[in-house]
Amino acid sequence: MVVIQAVRRAVRRRGDAAPVVFMSRWKQEPQRRRVLWERVRACRKLRSGNGGPAGLSIVLMDSGLRDKVVLVTGASGGIGSATARAFAAEGAKVVLHCHRGRERAMALAGALGREVALVASADLRREAGVAKVFAAAQRRFGGVDILVANAGAWETRDIGLQDMTLRQWEDTVRTVLTSAFLCLREFFRMVAKRKRGNAVLVGSTAGVFGEAGHADYAAAKSAMAFGLTRTLKNEIARLAPHTADYCGGRVNCVCPGWTVVPRNRAKLGDAAVVRKVTATMALPKIGRPEDIANAIVYLASDDLAGHVSGQTMVVAGGMEGRLLWRPEELDPALA
Ligand SMILES: NC(=O)c1ccc[n+]([C@@H]2O[C@H](COP(=O)([O-])OP(=O)(O)OC[C@H]3O[C@@H](n4cnc5c(N)ncnc54)[C@H](OP(=O)(O)O)[C@@H]3O)[C@@H](O)[C@H]2O)c1
Repeated sequence: MVVIQAVRRAVRRRGDAAPVVFMSRWKQEPQRRRVLWERVRACRKLRSGNGGPAGLSIVLMDSGLRDKVVLVTGASGGIGSATARAFAAEGAKVVLHCHRGRERAMALAGALGREVALVASADLRREAGVAKVFAAAQRRFGGVDILVANAGAWETRDIGLQDMTLRQWEDTVRTVLTSAFLCLREFFRMVAKRKRGNAVLVGSTAGVFGEAGHADYAAAKSAMAFGLTRTLKNEIARLAPHTADYCGGRVNCVCPGWTVVPRNRAKLGDAAVVRKVTATMALPKIGRPEDIANAIVYLASDDLAGHVSGQTMVVAGGMEGRLLWRPEELDPALA
C-alpha cells in the first residue's frame, strides 16, 4: 500500500510529468515490489533535482482488467490455476472451470475470495456442459468478458502414428480441439450480444514444432494455434467492432513449451528429459505456470495488447524446435 500511495503522491505532485512505473501484481511478488520501490525512489530523485529532464512524467501502467470477468477453463490444473491467480491479482473476477478436480478449484476459490471467484465444473467435450459453465457465469457475474480456453489433456505415452488407435485420435481431438470450439462458440454468442470481448487460446509448442509420438495432440494444438486463432480474429472483430473508445474484439494464442505442473513434475525430474527438452532453447529453463499466465494476462488486456490480434505467442525460452537425433545415432558419412 505504501508503494501505491507513494506513486500516487508522486503523480499528484508531478502532474503530467515521466519515468514509466510498471505496477502490477506487486502485492504477491516481493521482488517486483522492491524493483518498483527503486523506481519510485528514482522518480523522486529526478523530481528533487532540477525537476528532471523536460517532459519527464510518471505514468502508471495498468492492465485495465479490474472487474473484468474472466472464464479460465481448466483452472483446476497447473497453468489454469496460475492464470486465474494472475487475473485475480489484477482485480478481475474469475470463473474457475474444472472437470474432475473440483476440490482443487474450490480450494483456489477459497484462496482468491468467494466474492471474486466462482467454481463451475463440466466436461467441456459436451455442449450441455459448456452451456452450463457460461450460464453460471452469466447468473453470478452478468457475463464473460474474457475467455481463456486452457483446458486440455494429452496421452502421456509416446505412440507412433502407425500404432495410434482411432479411439485415441478422436478422444484427443475432442478433449483439446472440440472443447475449445464449443467454449469459443458459446463465448462468441455472448460477444455478439455484448459487442465486446476477447479470447486467449492455450496451444502448445507441439502444435508449432510437432511432437513425435503425439501426432493427435500436435495436430489439435496446431489447429488452435493457427487455423482457429487466425480465422476467429477476423470473425470476432465483426461481432465486437473497433470504435473510438474500444479496441475491438481480439483472439490470440499462447503456446507454452514444457511447463512444470503437478501432472508432469515427476517426468521433468528426470535429468535426461530436461536435457532433451531444453537443448534447443536460448533460455534453457523449464517453464513455470506463472510464465504462461503472464503472457495470457498481457494478451487479454485491452489496455496493454489492444492492437494485438490473431497472434501465436510461443512462451518457451526462445525454443527453435526439437532435438531429433542423439549424436551417436548419426553417421556423418551418410550425411
Ligand atoms: N504443462 C505443459 O508442459 C504444457 C505444455 C504445452 C501446453 N500445455 C497446455 O496447457 C493447458 C493446461 O495444461 P496443464 O499443464 O496446466 O495441465 P493440467 O494441470 O493437467 O490441467 C489440465 C486442465 O484441463 C482440464 N480438463 C482436461 N480434460 C477436460 C475435459 N474433458 N473437460 C474439461 N476440462 C478438462 C483439467 O480438469 P480437471 O483436472 O478438473 O479434471 C485441468 O484443469 C493444456 O491445454 C495443455 O495442453 C501444457
